[in-house]
Amino acid sequence: MSRLKILNIVGARPQIIKASAISRAIAGPFKNEIEEVIVHTGQHYDREMSEIFFDELEIKVPDHNLHVGSGKHGRQTGMILERIEDVIMNEKPDCVIVYGDTNSTLAAALAASKQHYPVVHIEAGMRSFNKSMPEELNRIMTDHCSTLLFAPTNTAFKNLMAEGFRPENVAPYNINNPRIFLTGDIMYDNSLFYAELAERKKNNFLQRMGLSEDQFILVTIHRDMNTDDPVRLNAIFSTLVDLSEKNGILLVMPLHPRTIKALGKSAPQLHERMTSSGLIKVLNPVSFLEMILLEKKSRMIITDSGGVQKESHFFSKPCIVLRKETEWVELVKNGTVRLADADPKKIAEAWEYFMNNKELLQYPGFYGDGKAADTILKEIIEVFRS
Ligand code: UD1
Ligand code: UDP
Repeated sequence: MSRLKILNIVGARPQIIKASAISRAIAGPFKNEIEEVIVHTGQHYDREMSEIFFDELEIKVPDHNLHVGSGKHGRQTGMILERIEDVIMNEKPDCVIVYGDTNSTLAAALAASKQHYPVVHIEAGMRSFNKSMPEELNRIMTDHCSTLLFAPTNTAFKNLMAEGFRPENVAPYNINNPRIFLTGDIMYDNSLFYAELAERKKNNFLQRMGLSEDQFILVTIHRDMNTDDPVRLNAIFSTLVDLSEKNGILLVMPLHPRTIKALGKSAPQLHERMTSSGLIKVLNPVSFLEMILLEKKSRMIITDSGGVQKESHFFSKPCIVLRKETEWVELVKNGTVRLADADPKKIAEAWEYFMNNKELLQYPGFYGDGKAADTILKEIIEVFRS
């Protein structure tokens, strides 16, 4: 029997990391059943935002790179849409896998579904209920042109049902009769798999960085709502610098290129204060194994990232989220994530609480059994083999 051909679409940093879980499973238990073609849209392109993950996570070099680069939403999404259309037409896959909620996700999903190729959406059903986020628009539209939707959490599954997706649909599945499936989170698979590898391969990383376990707070910030609004950007960074100086604790900040550029443009004095402070360590983006180590060994995490707030849970760390809302609502209900928006008072309160109440916090398993990639691939074979 011929192998099922799958187009695995990546573009932004977290998608490359997510795709590694699927690629690893394809190269392992599914190698006789699935042929993988990787398409990189080129949305992220700096070595530390892209290539480093292919090397470190041993993902094969993309079969196609669309080299779209950065740009406004319309241009970036439009370029991917145009360039990926020909790739899909020529490859004629059995299905197209997209991840998450970026412009690459939406463009690939639209291009595939309009050519009648079935779309598989991994991380389906996530909702912030805030349509002013570009990601929320991307997710909703991607879900609604997908044939197979894999929800990572109960809440995501229920969100899909609330939008009219029916768990009782039966095969044959297609865009008008989609299948929704609760799988758990492939990033939990990855954290389990790579945590051990990180300890082995990067055992002197923290020492090289001059960091000691529990003696620093990890910070990542990249969301457009925080970087592109000078008021929010200044409020967040000046609050963090103040808190770090007041409490004498080191902040380690691997920053997205977008954030470095925004600081230079909208808050140059603050940027200068940060770089000259002995308590703030601004880094270029780090590799995934390095990031895992920083997460595991930190005292607490402060972020506006979707992936990083979840990883805080995988590694049992409290997390302050610099947004008004989150898609990972179970973490807020659990009390280990606090939403502080860009509000200095809320950030300070959450900081104080988490630094003093470590022993009250618990981290139950919300994200599956660590085998979500296998479950997903079995289901893909079941649905598209016939
Ligand atoms: C994108 C996703 C966001 C995701 C994030 C992951 C959309 C709408 N947003 O946001 O959901 O959380 O990726 O990191 O798809 N840049 C570089 N080098 C790079 C890539 C980007 O310098 O390799 C700079 C450019 O100035 C660019 C800016 O970062 O304009 C923003 O990049 P872009 O891909 O548009 O959005 P992200 O903020 O990365
Ligand atoms: N990450 C990384 N290096 C960094 C920052 C983040 O490897 O310097 C990883 C992080 O561990 C997580 C993913 O990138 O797995 C999250 O990506 P990002 O925060 O860019 O996007 P989001 O998850 O918000 O879409």
